[in-house]
Amino acid sequence: MRKKIIAGNWKMNMTPSETKELISKLKSKCDTNDVDVVFVVPSIDVTTAYECLKGSNIKLGTQNFYFEDKGAFTGEISANMILDAGATYVIIGHSERRGIFKEDNAMINKKLVKAHKAGLLPILCCGESIELREKNTYKEFISEQIKSAFNGISENEAKNTVIAYEPIWAIGTGKTATSDQAEEVCAFIRDIIGTLYNDSVKNEIRIQYGGSVNAGNAKELFGKPDIDGGLVGGASLKEEFASIVNYKS
Ligand code: 13P
Repeated sequence: MRKKIIAGNWKMNMTPSETKELISKLKSKCDTNDVDVVFVVPSIDVTTAYECLKGSNIKLGTQNFYFEDKGAFTGEISANMILDAGATYVIIGHSERRGIFKEDNAMINKKLVKAHKAGLLPILCCGESIELREKNTYKEFISEQIKSAFNGISENEAKNTVIAYEPIWAIGTGKTATSDQAEEVCAFIRDIIGTLYNDSVKNEIRIQYGGSVNAGNAKELFGKPDIDGGLVGGASLKEEFASIVNYKS
């Protein structure tokens, strides 16, 4: 049985002071061992969030990093900085990074390789635009995203990667993929992992769904056999996130 993983991607929201406030509302309600819970916060909030989350099971992550160890890369942060500040997860290849900041598959592969070498736990995002969905070519597109991201990733590293399927048309739009649409693609991604590795990696790797997840649809989505939790945007900034974490009750 794969343990579910429910992560809140705060995106570019919450100052350090607001971080304290939000965590004080969410901490006790999200502190569980039934599922893995991750708060993926802006880098500048990590230290504050780490202090606030002490003594709980909630894990911390950042939304991006650069694959070099150190040096003249103005504006970037390294894997070691993230780990030293107390975060363990990192999102790689979010569609907002790919779209707005022009990160391509080659860059995302370098980041995935480096995250594993450094000991970070990556959440690798993939997902298609509305155009590709309508043209019915989304599977080829996602397959390419996955294959290129996993280039050079060992079997053990693959098992320690979380994949988030986030169809771009469902992000921040209130338009959730139906649970059948989400399941179809998560199962498809699992099959690709099976062909790249073996049945053991295929069965152990965790695949989340993301895109307008809320307290009302979490139970149905997370009940699907190939959906191992969610990557939650907007609803992770509200007390609603606690209901998503506790979707079973
Ligand atoms: P929303 O939940 O706001 O649609 O965002 C999803 C997302 O992009 C999480 O990474």
